[in-house]
Parts: sequence; C-alpha cells; structure tokens
Amino acid sequence: MKKRVAVIGAGPSGLAQLRAFQSAKAKGAEIPEVVCFEKQSDWGGLWNYTWRTGLDEFGEPVHCSMYRYLWTNGPKEGLEFADYSFEEHFGKQIASYPPRAVMVDYIEGRVKKAGVRDWIRFCTTIRMVKYNEAKGNFTVTAHDLKADRMYDEEFDHVIVASGHFSVPNVPEYPGFDKFNGRVLHAHDFRDAREFKGKDLLLLGSSYSAEDIGSQCWKYGAKSITVAYRNAPMGFDWPDNWKEVPALERVDEDTAYFKDGTSKKVDAIILCTGYKHHFPFLPDDLRLKTANRLAANDLYKGVVYVHNPKMFYLGMQDQWFTFNMFDAQAWWVRDAIMGRIAVPTDKKAMLNDVADRVAGEDAGQDAHDAIHYQGDYVKELIAETDYPSFNVDGACEAFFEWKDHKKKDIMAFRNHAYKSVITGTMAPIHHTPWKDALEDSLESYLKN
Ligand SMILES: Cc1cc2nc3c(=O)[nH]c(=O)nc-3n(C[C@H](O)[C@H](O)[C@H](O)COP(=O)(O)OP(=O)(O)OC[C@H]3O[C@@H](n4cnc5c(N)ncnc54)[C@H](O)[C@@H]3O)c2cc1C
Ligand SMILES: NC(=O)c1ccc[n+]([C@@H]2O[C@H](COP(=O)([O-])OP(=O)(O)OC[C@H]3O[C@@H](n4cnc5c(N)ncnc54)[C@H](OP(=O)(O)O)[C@@H]3O)[C@@H](O)[C@H]2O)c1
Repeated sequence: MKKRVAVIGAGPSGLAQLRAFQSAKAKGAEIPEVVCFEKQSDWGGLWNYTWRTGLDEFGEPVHCSMYRYLWTNGPKEGLEFADYSFEEHFGKQIASYPPRAVMVDYIEGRVKKAGVRDWIRFCTTIRMVKYNEAKGNFTVTAHDLKADRMYDEEFDHVIVASGHFSVPNVPEYPGFDKFNGRVLHAHDFRDAREFKGKDLLLLGSSYSAEDIGSQCWKYGAKSITVAYRNAPMGFDWPDNWKEVPALERVDEDTAYFKDGTSKKVDAIILCTGYKHHFPFLPDDLRLKTANRLAANDLYKGVVYVHNPKMFYLGMQDQWFTFNMFDAQAWWVRDAIMGRIAVPTDKKAMLNDVADRVAGEDAGQDAHDAIHYQGDYVKELIAETDYPSFNVDGACEAFFEWKDHKKKDIMAFRNHAYKSVITGTMAPIHHTPWKDALEDSLESYLKN
C-alpha cells in the first residue's frame, strides 16, 4: 500500500510541497499519494486576492489579508524559486518589487508547469485532524463546501501549510466602542482609495503599518499618524506622516497618546499582527508559538516534536519566504520518503529546537536575523536535492533593501537587484512607485 499524505493549504507553502513530490516523481522515484485540501476556490494562499472581508460565500472566514495595489515589500530577488526563475516565467528579467497580480502569475507558473492542480481538492476546508494511536495514522475530517458534505479519510502523514498571517490579533483600547469612524484590522483593509482625504490612525510599527500607511499616503490620505507600542519605525516620513507613542484611549473623534498629545482622526487601522490559529487541530497536534524565526516545538523548523508524523511548513516569521518554504518542503518530502532520518528520541528533537531558539536570541539586529534565516535555508537545502543557490547573495539583496528604505522610504521600490538564480540584473521599473497608481500585470511588465 502506498503511503497517503495530506497537505492542508494550497498557498506558497502547500504548493512548494506538491512541487517537491512532483519533482521526485519526475526523476523516477515512487512517491506517496498526495492530497491537498484548500478551502478557497483557487490556489495562491494570501496572494489570491478577494474583495470579500469577514465571511466568504460559504460562511467560512476569509483567508485573504492582501489588498489592492499591494506590491512586494522586499525585493523579489530574495524569494525567487531556485527551480523556476522569474526570467523563465516571464521570458525576460522584470523589475524588483512586483505587484500582487504579477506575483500570483509567477507562483502559478511553476505549479501549472508541474501539472499538480488535480492533486488539490478546492473549496474543501479541514475541520479536524485526529491521531489514531492504534493504527499509527491520522483521520482527517474534510468539508466539501460546494456539495456541503463532510467526510473522513485516513492518512499516514499530515502537513499543515495553512499560513499564519490570516487570523488577526485585535486589541481593544478604551473608547473604541464610542468612536464615530471605522475601526478595522489590517486583515480587512482592501482599498486605500477609501481613505482619500482622511486623517488616519494606524497602530503597530511593523510591515503592515509601514505598507498600509504608505498605500494610503500614495492614494491621497490627508494625514497618517502611527502609534507605536515599543519603538517607532523611525523612517524619514513625508511631512503629513507622524509617529507617536502608544495610544491610550479614543473618544468620538480624537485619539489620545501616552506623551499627552492627541489627534482628531477619521478612521483607525489596527496593524497589530496575526495569530497562529489552527481551529482544526486538537490539543495534542496543535502548534503553539509566537511569530518568531525559531518556532516552538518544530525540529528542523518543520517536524512537530510531539508527533513526528506531522509536519508544519512556513510557521516562522519571514525574511525568506518562497525559497524557504521550498527548502522545508523538499526536506519534509525526503523525511516522509525515508531519505532523511528523523530522530526517534523526542529529547534530541527538543534540543534541536532549544539550539535554534538560542541561536535566534543571540542575534543583535535585523542583519543577524537575516543571516540566521539564510543559514537555516542553507542547512535544509544541503540535505536535499533542491537546487543550490547563492543564499548569501539573497541576504545581500535584503541588506541593500534595508539601506534603500532608510534612505527614502517612499522610493525604495524604485531600486533593482541582481538575481541569485540567473545572475542577471533586474531593470529599474519604468515608473516610480509613488506615481504608479495603475499596477496591473500588463502595466508592470511594460519595461
Ligand atoms: C499583507 C501581507 C503581505 C505580504 N507580502 C509579502 C511579500 O511581499 N513578499 C513575501 O515574500 N511574503 C509576503 N507575505 C508573507 C506571506 O506569508 C507569504 O508570502 C506566503 O503567502 C505564505 O504562504 P503559506 O502557504 O505559508 O500561507 P498562506 O499564503 O496563508 O496560505 C495558506 C493556505 O491555506 C488555506 N487554508 C487555511 N486553513 C485551511 C483549512 N482549514 N482547510 C483548508 N485550507 C486551509 C488558505 O485558504 C490558504 O490558501 C505577506 C503577508 C501578508 C499578510
Ligand atoms: N506589501 C507587503 O508585502 C506587506 C504588507 C503588509 C504586511 N506584510 C507582511 O505581513 C506579515 C505580518 O506583518 P504585520 O506588520 O501585520 O505583523 P507583525 O510583523 O507581527 O507586527 C505586529 C505589530 O503590531 C504591534 N502590536 C501587537 N499588539 C499590539 C497592541 N496590543 N497594541 C499596539 N500594537 C500592537 C506590534 O508591536 P510591538 O513591535 O510593540 O510588539 C508590531 O509592531 C509580515 O510578514 C509582513 O512582511 C507584507
């Protein structure tokens, strides 16, 4: 009997897993039966944009946290697939910060070529996974949303690739219930044009605050005020953008901050991050971790130490994304196919986790964190046949990116970097980011 493997989610991580198995098959290996369950009607995960917020047409929580006009926030040279370059996909080198639609096209290109779409059951959400001690396997309960039918199937392995930037962390501050304008989380932000001419308050000092604020600025918000809890982002912001200390309370139309200042605002956007949330997993299988580079309880960052037949992909905080998910997926494939031995001793696995946590904690700054995650990618790649690439070169692209942001936060996307996969330099985009209001695939590729 062939082994059966369930993959939960067809975002970049789940798709990496399908491509990993398909590439082994293409090289003549006998692979397990792989079934991928995806609750949305299409693949791409967060990159699969929808106008919907709240619940979808089936009453399921909307997964998408992306918005119109989103461009990558790091250079594409840091995330390029080692087995499928941007040049292979587009037939030419393209600029370095593609808009979402361009990224979706690229993500799809590789898996269309691999021919794995029929491994995926779309509009099918996983409701529960249980481990059967006696049989040593899992029962997975799926809900076919279109047919409105629930069913159970057994699998030898479960790979959780359901993402962790979809379920919002929503704090409450005194007065939110009396505020006259909208209070929304970044997860529900869709279109910056809604806030044209408005005074906005954003909470948080990470990527969502930076990018949603920048979008709103680009599309004509009157002013942006960002309240930070611990530290400001500290960029050289435009004149109508201010960073202020933590929010204390709001009344009908005014926000009051810790330093005694206040600001009249029209809307509040909570850029306060996301939760690792797995409502389909029981206590013994559910990962509990903070959003960090060394996630809890994952040997090699992927094997669930409390049940090593279960794997998690992409659960770390992310400097590296697509190529890290690939490195993980190739490694998990080889562990499942018996090409890599996973320790049988739980203590050994926990020691590995502790070492990774200590390694991350020893870092001083973002520079160290980028190297740390780059080294992790290298470690996994060295143990599989994933095409080796210049990971240090990708780290260099990240360092340049950080310098460009420091120089001009509204212009960093006008820079170009060298591909570590093909060695070619990206062209400078034809229009500065702040003026490129129309960002369709056709217009982006006009270089
Ligand atoms: C606003 C935003 C912008 C980002 N921009 C960038 C960027 O510019 N560059 C970059 O590299 N990264 C970016 N990221 C990071 C992002 O995490 C990764 O790019 C990538 O999408 C992660 O892939 P994933 O497959 O792990 O998770 P996801 O993309 O979240 O995909 C998970 C999939 O699992 C499915 N799923 C969830 N639960 C179930 C269930 N119970 N049953 C069945 N299916 C389920 C979902 O529908 C989804 O398709 C961004 C993230 C956010 C939130
Ligand atoms: N264009 C793009 O590509 C783009 C755009 C947006 C997001 N993203 C991606 O999305 C992911 C998530 O980023 P994120 O910024 O949403 O989450 P995040 O990096 O986890 O940051 C969460 C922020 O919320 C703050 N926060 C949490 N609880 C708070 C509270 N109770 N009150 C005030 N502030 C609070 C945190 O403050 P402290 O710092 O004080 O803890 C932190 O600044 C990242 O991978 C990012 O790259 C990409």
